[in-house]
Amino acid sequence: MSQPPVNFSFSFSPPTPASSGNPLQDFFDRHQGRLMSKWTHYFDVYHRHFARFRGTACTLVEIGVYHGGSLQMWRDYLGPKARLIGVDIEERARALAGPGTEILIGDQEDPLFLSQIAETAGRIDLLIDDGGHHMQQQINTLLHLYPRIAANGVYLCEDLHTSYWEEFGGGLRQPQTFIEFSKRLIDKLNAFHSRDDELVPDGYTASTQSMHYYDSMLVIEKRPRQPPQMVRAGVPFFPDLEERPSLKPEMP
Ligand SMILES: C[S@@+](CC[C@H](N)C(=O)[O-])C[C@H]1O[C@@H](n2cnc3c(N)ncnc32)[C@H](O)[C@@H]1O
Repeated sequence: MSQPPVNFSFSFSPPTPASSGNPLQDFFDRHQGRLMSKWTHYFDVYHRHFARFRGTACTLVEIGVYHGGSLQMWRDYLGPKARLIGVDIEERARALAGPGTEILIGDQEDPLFLSQIAETAGRIDLLIDDGGHHMQQQINTLLHLYPRIAANGVYLCEDLHTSYWEEFGGGLRQPQTFIEFSKRLIDKLNAFHSRDDELVPDGYTASTQSMHYYDSMLVIEKRPRQPPQMVRAGVPFFPDLEERPSLKPEMP
């Protein structure tokens, strides 16, 4: 006489990874969707500069969408009100469009195409350059799209290490590299203090609050600026201590 089968119901869920405290890292750790590739330290940088846009009707432009995984991450992070514009040179990327997500096809080195991106976007709150990583591509993208980023928006360029790699047109301290180009922007950021005719405040000076360098990344935060003013409060503690002349504010 055969034995009746013995069946126990069984279900298995893989252990959920503990939260890292960073929603982008958590998304990545659980991600089963479209492929994306990231350097591990990027998540902290994104979250530090992009958190204030979460849940808002912001517009993010990402140059370089690859298989679309990062666009899925931005949707999850920024929420349903965000407008995502993915840009890629690869024609097949059009298939990554969806509700609230547009795809533009073209070459980020081409100034005409960059103007087209700006016109289509209308307003850019967040710009991520993760495209071809060649020097002139990164430089043209910054030159043409930075002025089109909203007054309180953020520019972020990834994989700056290509500035040190010959196959991308890089090389240590080579003047044509993106990293050397960006160092000149540091001068512009400080141009309100210049005493040199060669360095005078311009649109970049007046619209840029800060530049943040990380391993392989540059983030620039925009904010309208007036010439800075030094202010003082309190009374001298040392009666005979003069302020160093180089730091003395110019009093009216
Ligand atoms: C590093 S992948 C992007 C990765 C994606 N952002 C992610 O996080 O998974 C670079 C992408 O840039 C695109 N690309 C390369 N050269 C380009 C160019 N000149 N203009 C626009 N996109 C370009 C490539 O087709 C590729 O999809």
